[in-house]
Amino acid sequence: MHIVVGITGGIAAYKAPELVRLLKKAGHEVRCAATEHALEFVTRVTLETVSGAPLYSDLFASGRTEHISLKDWGEMLVVAPATANIIGKVASGIADDALSTLLLAFSGKPVIMAPAMNCEMWAHPAVQRNIETLKGWGIRMVGPESGELACGVNGMGRMSEPETIAAAVLSTLHSPLSTPHSPLSAQKWLVTAGPTYERIDSVRFIGNYSSGKMGFALAEALANAGAEVELVTGPTHLNVTHQRINIRRVESAREMYAAATEVFPKCNGAILSAAVADYRPSECADHKLKKNGSEGMHLNLVQNPDILATLGDMKTPAQTLVGFALETDNEEANAQRKLEKKNLDYIVLNSLRDKGAGFGVDTNKVTIIGRDGSHKESPLLSKQEVAHLIINTVTS
Ligand code: C5P
Repeated sequence: MHIVVGITGGIAAYKAPELVRLLKKAGHEVRCAATEHALEFVTRVTLETVSGAPLYSDLFASGRTEHISLKDWGEMLVVAPATANIIGKVASGIADDALSTLLLAFSGKPVIMAPAMNCEMWAHPAVQRNIETLKGWGIRMVGPESGELACGVNGMGRMSEPETIAAAVLSTLHSPLSTPHSPLSAQKWLVTAGPTYERIDSVRFIGNYSSGKMGFALAEALANAGAEVELVTGPTHLNVTHQRINIRRVESAREMYAAATEVFPKCNGAILSAAVADYRPSECADHKLKKNGSEGMHLNLVQNPDILATLGDMKTPAQTLVGFALETDNEEANAQRKLEKKNLDYIVLNSLRDKGAGFGVDTNKVTIIGRDGSHKESPLLSKQEVAHLIINTVTS
């Protein structure tokens, strides 16, 4: 494997040569890219000697497209140490030196960062926000850990040891969670996300607790793998920043149905993760309904169209269709039945039994069942990691 090790200007940079040595010992080819400040802590000669390759540190030396050739060469990029500065730059899309430029060019392939900084800096809301942004894009964080810091205090911010970072790199290389090696460029995918709201009157609706996080993570992971994504989402506060995601915001199941059936014929595949209301009120009052004395109220509900089943009917043999299932009993048998009935290629069974899985939370635990009878069970993972696992499974 070709691994690029990026080094930024923190005291932990002195440990980077050891990380390079461990990765080479595991049989990988390594090239280094360093910021100007990193070279205050570790020398060019050291990095070139341990990697056995020229160091990339000057955006303007040796032609101006070195970041592109290194991006093409590298199969994974590991930044260790990752300072608050590089984390902030990537989160903001700034490319003003060799490493930050390489990081922005390195899309569709796995990136790992090992943050290292003073504990107050680590705790700063800007750093925490940037970390969340990067994680949302599928960048994996290793550490930091708690311990003695260069400034003499004890606290969170110590870079993980080179052995720990190397283990994370190797597990990502060998894990199904890593980004696909054949990016999905030239493909278009549809993703549905979030809840639907079914209007009762001008101020009330029937909805559910879906946050949209799983669908947004799927859209980001597909876009990071190179696909164009049409994200059709019900009401949610989430936003996307990836330029390859075209977001359409809808409210009701019928609006979601109209948008999804319109774009599906142009897509290579679709992942329907939205929690669509099965029923809607048969009538929607155009004013606020008034209380009617002490009498109860009856809502007459009618069935919504099943978007997934409709796409299953429309599907051509070249298209891939993935649905979600949330079952309370006979989970696997019911999911399998749904897969066949709705003509799906895969169904993702959400666990309701596990704490931390399902609606609203940041983590999930799933079983991916294939039409061919294949079963892949995940441990409890972040929704970003689950998204990578799903995409790697359904696009391989
Ligand atoms: O049949 P059930 O509602 O359990 O199926 C869940 C799957 O079907 C999810 O993928 C969900 O997004 C999709 N669905 C849909 N349209 C509906 C109901 C569910 O696309 N009206």
